[in-house]
Amino acid sequence: MQKPHTESRSTKQPSTPDLVGSADALERHDDLWIEVIRKMDETYSDLVRYQVELEEKNAALEAAHQFISSVLASMTDVLIVCDINGRIEEVNPALESLTGVPEEGLIGRPFQSLLTTECLELASGFAETIRNNAVHDCELTLRAAQEDVPLAVNCSSRYDSRGRLVGMVLIGRPVGELRRAYEALNRAHDELKQAQSQLISAEKMASLGRLVAGVAHELNNPISFVYGNVHALARYRKRLRTYCDAVDASDPPESLTALKAELRIERLLDDLDPLIRGTLEGAERVRDVVQDLRRFSSGQKGEHTGFDLVHVIETAVRWVTKGSHPGAQVETQLPERVDICGHAGQIHQVVMNLVQNALDAIKGVDGARVSIRLETLTHADRLVAGPAQAGFSAVRLCVEDNGPGIPEPDLLKIFDPFFTTKPVGQGTGLGLSISYGIVADHGGRLMAENRAEGGARLTMELPA
Ligand SMILES: Nc1ncnc2c1ncn2[C@@H]1O[C@H](COP(=O)(O)OP(=O)(O)OP(=O)(O)O)[C@@H](O)[C@H]1O
Ligand SMILES: [Mg+2]
Repeated sequence: MQKPHTESRSTKQPSTPDLVGSADALERHDDLWIEVIRKMDETYSDLVRYQVELEEKNAALEAAHQFISSVLASMTDVLIVCDINGRIEEVNPALESLTGVPEEGLIGRPFQSLLTTECLELASGFAETIRNNAVHDCELTLRAAQEDVPLAVNCSSRYDSRGRLVGMVLIGRPVGELRRAYEALNRAHDELKQAQSQLISAEKMASLGRLVAGVAHELNNPISFVYGNVHALARYRKRLRTYCDAVDASDPPESLTALKAELRIERLLDDLDPLIRGTLEGAERVRDVVQDLRRFSSGQKGEHTGFDLVHVIETAVRWVTKGSHPGAQVETQLPERVDICGHAGQIHQVVMNLVQNALDAIKGVDGARVSIRLETLTHADRLVAGPAQAGFSAVRLCVEDNGPGIPEPDLLKIFDPFFTTKPVGQGTGLGLSISYGIVADHGGRLMAENRAEGGARLTMELPA
């Protein structure tokens, strides 16, 4: 098609049709240019639009980034994002400030390196656990800049856009504050329970005191005449024996000798002695119990005077340890002199009781040891009521032993009257209940506990 046209252009003279042809060509050329310019315009405006869109997207991305950063920064809980191997990929400022390590120092580290050794085993199971379940409220301890921080941790799995498991997200809440509050609450609760049981015990003692006073009064008369009569019987037995011996010596008639044999008078006289001694012993035991009962119920009223507590303790210890338990080692740590106000005789009785109980507890124990310690308390650490004195405001006596200790359920019962674990005849179970009353009357308190290293500790606190 082009060929003839070219030929005609080269062989024929220039004529109007040629002019017309060049005008066409020119027109086509212009159209081409217009098309090119239009395309360029379009491309340019596309470019501008893309640029605007890109800038808008950038701004949105920046805003989203700002938003996420601000959320992470205001989180008080700790956030750790890890890959599937537990290497840290992202953390929040709360973790940085707790550990004192900047983000750059944390990224790439295994998250277990932030924990104390005790929780490593637990944390190493996370990667496996989260494949099936999330981990809820598990407690881990973070090695923090100042002191270790216990965290309540939740851990869940993290997936990519195609739903593949790519790592885990740990969120930890510091529970230190919560724990401290909880412990304070627990302590307050325990103190309340102790105060309540002391109140109940005080009330119980008071009503028991009234009951015991009545019983003691009723028992006192019969037992004193039993006791008196037995003494008389012992004297009469002696006289009977003298008389019988005299009759025997005077060659009595046969009928009398036969009657004596028939009535077995000789055996009877021989038996009378152990019978009287047994009755006397029983009567003495009952008399002692009645005496204790009266002391327990009397409210231990007595005149309070000033006395040296150290001297009282020393004599009480000497009396108790004299003769008994030669194997036991009794150590005392006593100041030179501590003057307090009270009833010296009653305090003496309390100390004797505490030391006696300790010595009873260590019977048969290897390396048996009782330690008696007296300390003075200043106003700051005193726990008992009473007016403060110069130098100290209260005293605390601890009697410790290395015996078997007091079984936990018995700790509240040992101050009950007649509670004893000793064999019949060896303990009335009144010692501690009387002591409790005496100490309470002095405005102090008597406490029992088991020592962590074994054995019991009885503590008496008295206001100065
Ligand atoms: N240091 C101690 N170690 C272990 N148990 C003790 C100790 N002190 C007291 N107890 C327990 O408390 C109980 C009551 O003691 P408490 O002094 O009141 O009575 P008791 O010693 O049995 O008899 P008693 O009236 O002769 O003193 C004891 O029987 C014993 O079980
Ligand atoms: Mg006792």
